[in-house]
Amino acid sequence: MSNNTEEQITRNVLDSMAHAPDRRLHSVMTSLISHLHAFIREVEPTQEEWATAIQFLTRTGQLCDEKRQEFILLSDITGVTMLVDAINHRSQDGATESTIFGPFYREGAQELPVGATISKDGRGEPVVVTGKVLSTSGTPIAGATLDIWETDENGLYEQQDPEQPDMNLRGKFLTDSAGGYCFVGIKPVSYSILDDGPVGQLLRVLGRHPFRPAHIHLLISANGFAPVTTHLFVKGDPYLDSDAVFGTKDSLIVDFVRHDSAEEAARYNVTAPFYKVAYDFVLKPLSKR
Ligand code: BEZ
Ligand code: FE
Repeated sequence: MSNNTEEQITRNVLDSMAHAPDRRLHSVMTSLISHLHAFIREVEPTQEEWATAIQFLTRTGQLCDEKRQEFILLSDITGVTMLVDAINHRSQDGATESTIFGPFYREGAQELPVGATISKDGRGEPVVVTGKVLSTSGTPIAGATLDIWETDENGLYEQQDPEQPDMNLRGKFLTDSAGGYCFVGIKPVSYSILDDGPVGQLLRVLGRHPFRPAHIHLLISANGFAPVTTHLFVKGDPYLDSDAVFGTKDSLIVDFVRHDSAEEAARYNVTAPFYKVAYDFVLKPLSKR
């Protein structure tokens, strides 16, 4: 009897891993092979279609280096990044929801005083962001760090744009003794993810656009608390319901309220018109994880 019937091929592969010493790896690979073979059985690809898939993955890998990670982008646009994030943040207990980290974080942003701006080139419309960092019990957290980054008004992060000063639109702020924080950024704009590679090609053939709704990135941490990687999204942005990387969460959508008073603007050291956002972040104690 042939040992290479369609069903037997799957059995043979599963049996070949029976003695894998790492049992977690064994269970992950058993599931992967079972689902992958089931997918192939369902789709019944032609030899040419399978070769196209292999070429796509090859080009995706070839584009990866220290500066670009096309595989993470593939995980992002297929919703896998956000699914892994959701699975790992099931019990929130009222803590601020997390969302996608993205590839544009840089370590080493300068620590800035309360109310300072993160803009080094003065472009864009200023936004004053204020609020508190609280524990899930409601207690203010003093000395929490908010590490912030966003694109310039042209939709590019500083490392993508030779025209911008180094570390533009990045900064770290500490909360005061009452858990309060205040920083000045710029009103974020919606922008396109990198779409000049195989991932962009895939989006196009699927009839999808490459845009993300406008957002400010924040990584918030404090001793004794689980850090949160999150965003503040702009209410009314046209891409909130079709984020190319599925990162939007209702609880993170905020009103950027426009103010036209030059006198009020001067109080924040900005020029009118400017925007104000008020948002409290909530961290979960590490013991409750
Ligand atoms: C970002 O928001 O910076 C981002 C997230 C995922 C893919 C590309 C960019
Ligand atoms: Fe971003």
